[in-house]
Amino acid sequence: MQKRPKTVPADFKVRVKRNVADNFNRSYLKYEAFEQRHRFFYTLALELAEHIQLQPNSVVLDVGCGSGISARALNDKYACRVLGVDLSAKMVAAGQARIGSPDIRLVVGDGERLVDLAAGQQFDYVLYNMALFIFPDVDRTLQEARACLRPGGKIAYTFYPELIGSGSSDLLAVAFERLDEPMPRFKVVTDYDRAGQSLEGVCGNITHYWWEQPLDLEFLNDFFSIPAQSASLFPGLDYEDRVEKVSVLLDTLADKADTGKIVWRMAEGTKAKIEP
Ligand SMILES: C[S@@+](CC[C@H](N)C(=O)[O-])C[C@H]1O[C@@H](n2cnc3c(N)ncnc32)[C@H](O)[C@@H]1O
Repeated sequence: MQKRPKTVPADFKVRVKRNVADNFNRSYLKYEAFEQRHRFFYTLALELAEHIQLQPNSVVLDVGCGSGISARALNDKYACRVLGVDLSAKMVAAGQARIGSPDIRLVVGDGERLVDLAAGQQFDYVLYNMALFIFPDVDRTLQEARACLRPGGKIAYTFYPELIGSGSSDLLAVAFERLDEPMPRFKVVTDYDRAGQSLEGVCGNITHYWWEQPLDLEFLNDFFSIPAQSASLFPGLDYEDRVEKVSVLLDTLADKADTGKIVWRMAEGTKAKIEP
């Protein structure tokens, strides 16, 4: 088997980030509509906060902050001060228009360049809510995240959904099989195991968590109809075609709705208090 290259080629990183920014620049209205209907990213941010026992009044760096939904959740419930960074200017602008707290600041920037962005500020937490799996260079962003943490601070993230059926079967694979189409080769740029290896590399021991929801096909249809999310299932197709396909794909799982579940995985690592 071929070994994974140690460094990520610069042109790959540039291409991924350009696509990510384009996709999310096109997504912000659908994203907001989805959130208004389901309050999902807000809830997931609070699930993560609860799992990692996030402390009130903390200072948080929110990487891949989008329109600041997680930042608002952490500020509303935990009175956190949050600096958010995101590649997509449209997502950030949409978020800035809604922020009602002086404790939240959102900026456009690259999550692989956190040290420059932090400009010497130290954070209690660096969080990635539904963002890390789109990063082409997970080692780089997590190393930068660690450099921005105070000793004892934490890095934590939530991940791309897994659709699980009885006997731990992968229902997305089942759906593609029923659709008679191949699964996309890469649903995510960085998978959960790879992200975990990288987090272990910067923090030592890490802890895994997950949050389960019923397999709500209507919710999933709305989720995967966000332009950026639909691209993970049907890359290369135009948006209208992707959305149509998403609906047909999920319809194939109608008989699994009662037994299947959606699993959101999460992980956390802590920066050692005393450097080795
Ligand atoms: C699914 S959204 C999640 C947004 C936000 N965390 C929330 O909870 O609403 C993923 C975000 O990650 C951002 N992103 C992806 N790669 C990034 C990078 N290298 N630097 C900064 N942001 C990035 C995207 O632009 C997008 O807004």
